[in-house]
Amino acid sequence: MDKFVIDGGRRLRGAVAVNGSKNAALPILIATLLTDEPCLVDNVPRLRDIRTTVRLLETLGKRVVFRGKTVMVLPNRRLRTRAPYELVKQMRASILVLGPLLARFGRARAALPGGCAIGLRPVDIHLKGLAAMGARERTEQGDVILEGALKPGRIRLRLASVGATENLMMAAAAVEGETVIENAAREPEIEDLGRFLAALGARVAGAGTSRVRVRGSARLHGARHRVIPDRIETGTYLIACAAAGGGVKLAGAEPRHLGALLSALKRSGAEVHALRAAGSSAGLSIRMKGRPRPVSIRTRPFPGFPTDLQAPWMAYMSLARGRSTIREDIFERRFLHAAELARMGAEVAVSERAAVVTGVPELRGAPVMASDIRAGAALIVAALAAAGESEIHRVYHIDRGYERIESVLRRLGARMRRAKA
Ligand code: EPZ
Repeated sequence: MDKFVIDGGRRLRGAVAVNGSKNAALPILIATLLTDEPCLVDNVPRLRDIRTTVRLLETLGKRVVFRGKTVMVLPNRRLRTRAPYELVKQMRASILVLGPLLARFGRARAALPGGCAIGLRPVDIHLKGLAAMGARERTEQGDVILEGALKPGRIRLRLASVGATENLMMAAAAVEGETVIENAAREPEIEDLGRFLAALGARVAGAGTSRVRVRGSARLHGARHRVIPDRIETGTYLIACAAAGGGVKLAGAEPRHLGALLSALKRSGAEVHALRAAGSSAGLSIRMKGRPRPVSIRTRPFPGFPTDLQAPWMAYMSLARGRSTIREDIFERRFLHAAELARMGAEVAVSERAAVVTGVPELRGAPVMASDIRAGAALIVAALAAAGESEIHRVYHIDRGYERIESVLRRLGARMRRAKA
C-alpha cells in the first residue's frame, strides 16, 4: 500500500490543467449499456473508479479500449444483466447499471451496496423510482433483482438524489414515451448525462433543473461525447492553494459549476478570477496571502456548497483567524477527517451534523489516515499548509478520485512524494 509524504509550508505557484469529471464520466460510461453501437467518451480521467467501471462494463459484455483520455466502448457479446458484489463493493455507483439494463432487457440484478465511511447511503429512491416505472423487486443473497417491462411514468423523488436521478434518466432513455422526474438532482454531472443521452438519440429536457423530462427510444445509437471538467478536483486545488498560500491557474476549470465555493473563498480573503479566452471560460485563477477569515458553510445539493468539498474546507478553516461552523446536510457521518486533522493541531468540535472549527495559527505535520476520497483530499490540504512532514496513509482512497495528485501538486511547487507504506 502506498502513502504520501508531504513536507509542508511551501506556497503553491504555477498552472495546471483540470481533468474530466469522475462523477460525470461514471454514469456516462454506464449509459453506453443502452446501445449496441460503439461509443467514444473523451476527457475521461484515469482513476481507480474509472478502471472499476471499465471492468464492470467488460463483465457485462462490452469491449472497452482506453486511448489516452478517450474511452471506446464497443459491442462484444450479448450483454449480461448482473453486477456482481465483487465490483459493487469497490464502487457503489455500480448500482447505476440497474436502470439501463432493466429498461433494455426486462431484468437486472445487482449486489446491494452496504453502508460506507460517509453514511448509510441506502438506494431506496433508485428502487422506488424503477418500481414506479413498472419494475417488480425481490432480493436474493444480498442482491436486488428487478424484473418487468418498464413503462414511462411521472416520478417524484423523496429527496434529490444524484444517483437515483441518473439511474431513472438512463432507464427512461430506453423506454418509448415520456418520463418525468420531479425533484430531480440539479448537479452539473446530471446535465452532462442528459447531453450524452440526447446524443444517443433520447429526447431530454430540463437536465440540471428539478424537473427532467426524458422521451426514450427502444433503439438508441452510438455517440461521441466530451466529459465536463471535474468541479471537485478544481475546488480541491483552489482550496489547497488558499490554505498553503500562493497563486495558481487551473486551465479548463468551469466557474459556473463552483459558484458557492468561489463565493466562500472570496469571503475568506482569496482573490479568485475566471480566465476568459475568446468569450468562453478558460479556467480559474486564485491568489491568497496570509491566514483566511473564518467562513461558515453548510453543504447543500447543487448549486449549494458541495458535500465533496466539505472536508477540504474544514482543513482550510483550521487555519482561519477565528471560528467557523460547518454543517453537513447530505451525509450523516462525513466528519471522520476531523479527528485526523486534530492530529495535526486543528481544533474541531464535532456534534452530530455540525462541526465548529476554531482556527489556529499553524498546523503541524503528522502521520494521518484517509477514510474516503475527500477526507484524504482534506489531509493533503492540511499537510501542504502545515509546518514539517506529514505522512498520509490509505492513499488508495485518494486515487479513486484524483489523477496523480502528487505530480499535479509537485508541478505547483509542493514537496510531495508517493512511497511504500
Ligand atoms: C453522488 O453520490 C456522488 N457520487 C458523491 O460523490 C456525492 O458526494 C453525492 O452525489 C452528493 O453530491 C457519484 O456521483 C458517483 P445521492 P450519490 O444519491 O449519487 C441519500 C465522491 O466523493 N439517499 O445524491 O450516491 C444518501 O444516503 C462521492 O466523489 C437515500 O437516502 O449521492 C445521501 O445521504 C462520494 N436513498 C443523500 O441521499 C437513496 O436511494 C445524497 O445521496 C439515494 C440517496
